[in-house]
Amino acid sequence: MFSIDVFAARCKTAMAAADNRQAAAAQVLADAIATHGPEAIIEGLNAAVPPGASVGELIVHASPELTMLFARIPARFQSGIHNHTVFACIGQLKGQEVNTTYAKDGERLTVVERQMAELGTVLQLPADVVHGIANPGDETAFALHLYGGDFGAIQDERSLWDEDSHAELGFSFPALVQQSVKAMKKSDNNAGLTALVQAIPAAKAAVDALA
Ligand SMILES: [Fe+2]
Repeated sequence: MFSIDVFAARCKTAMAAADNRQAAAAQVLADAIATHGPEAIIEGLNAAVPPGASVGELIVHASPELTMLFARIPARFQSGIHNHTVFACIGQLKGQEVNTTYAKDGERLTVVERQMAELGTVLQLPADVVHGIANPGDETAFALHLYGGDFGAIQDERSLWDEDSHAELGFSFPALVQQSVKAMKKSDNNAGLTALVQAIPAAKAAVDALA
């Protein structure tokens, strides 16, 4: 059985003993997927997060050195552009996650590359990454995201970028949902908006506000 607490303890022990904390965390995540199988991990994470939970409530573990987030990504979802300020490891458990990274080009952001997080693999992102994610599929995608710090403690250091102007904004989970809605409206992604409200009813206000 997959235990969030056991995983977190194992991950922190491995990071503390390693020169490269991110590589150590990625290895623990890859080992867990290989040992338990994606389905058992999804089951363990689903049990910890009630249906309808908003994005900030998908955090299943937070400590000074590690945040674990259950990325339960609605069909066709597109996220706003954001950073983390700490490293990230994405362990894909079901479906796919398209990861688009950006670079600053004067006042604008330009796309650097798109990578696909594939089932059973672990994608590593550096601490300075500016990115957005999307679920290209017609079903909910699941991933376990690890971050090399405490999201609660670093929230004020994080940024979000406006979809239209690319102006840098302060990060908050509600603001991330707002920019995600904006991204989906901009690309006429009604399927993504519908799936978002179905998965996270609290997001309806952000969808209606931008109608
Ligand atoms: Fe992210």
